Amino acid sequence: MKVLGLEGSPRKNGNTEKLVKAILGGATEKGADTKFYKLVNMNISLCLGCFSCRETGTCVTQDDMQLLHGEIQSSDAIILGSPVYMWQVSGQTKLFMDRLVPFIKPDFTSRLKGKKRVFMVFTQGNPDEQTFKVYFEYLENLFSFLHYDVKGTMVATGTRDPNDILQQTDLLEKAREIGKNLVA
Ligand SMILES: Cc1cc2nc3c(=O)[nH]c(=O)nc-3n(C[C@H](O)[C@H](O)[C@H](O)COP(=O)(O)O)c2cc1C
Repeated sequence: MKVLGLEGSPRKNGNTEKLVKAILGGATEKGADTKFYKLVNMNISLCLGCFSCRETGTCVTQDDMQLLHGEIQSSDAIILGSPVYMWQVSGQTKLFMDRLVPFIKPDFTSRLKGKKRVFMVFTQGNPDEQTFKVYFEYLENLFSFLHYDVKGTMVATGTRDPNDILQQTDLLEKAREIGKNLVA
C-alpha cells in the first residue's frame, strides 16, 4: 500500500504540513509506504488549457507534474493538504489541481489505475469550522466526480502561527488514526 502526501502551503513545516505528515505517520505505523511532496518546492506550471491531454493522457508541459502524475498512478491513497487562502485552496494547490486533467478522458471516464482513495486536509485562521464547510464539500464532490474514492476531510481551525496546530493534540492524534484507517 502506497500513500502519497501532497501539501500546498508555502510555509515550511506549517500547520498543514504537520497535519498531512501526522496522517502519513499513522499510515506508516500500519506498514504503508509513504511519500511526501511540498507542492511549492516543485516546478508546477499553470494549465495551458490546450486539452491535448484529454486525447493523449499526457500533458504537453514538461515540469514536475510528470513526476506527480506517475506518483499518483502508483499510489493507493492520496492526502491532499492546503491552507485556506481567501476562502479557497492556496494558489499552488490550485495549480496542481488544474493539472489533473490528463487523468480524464474525453467522455469523462478516468485513466486512473484503480480507485485512488483521497483524504483532504485544510487549515484555516478562522476559528469557526462552519465558515468554509460548503467549499470543502464542493471539493469532495469535485474529486468524486474525477473518480477518486473520497474518504473525507479534516479541518484545523484557528491556526495562524506555524506551530499553532501543536496545541491541538486531539486533532493530531485523530490525523494519525485517519492514516491508520486509510491503510486498513
Ligand atoms: C494569503 C492568505 C490568505 C488567507 N486567507 C484565509 C481565509 O480566507 N480564511 C481563513 O480562515 N484563513 C486564511 N488565512 C490563514 C491560513 O489559512 C492559516 O493561517 C493556515 O493555517 C496556514 O497554514 P500553514 O501554517 O500550513 O501555512 C490566509 C492566510 C494567507 C497567508
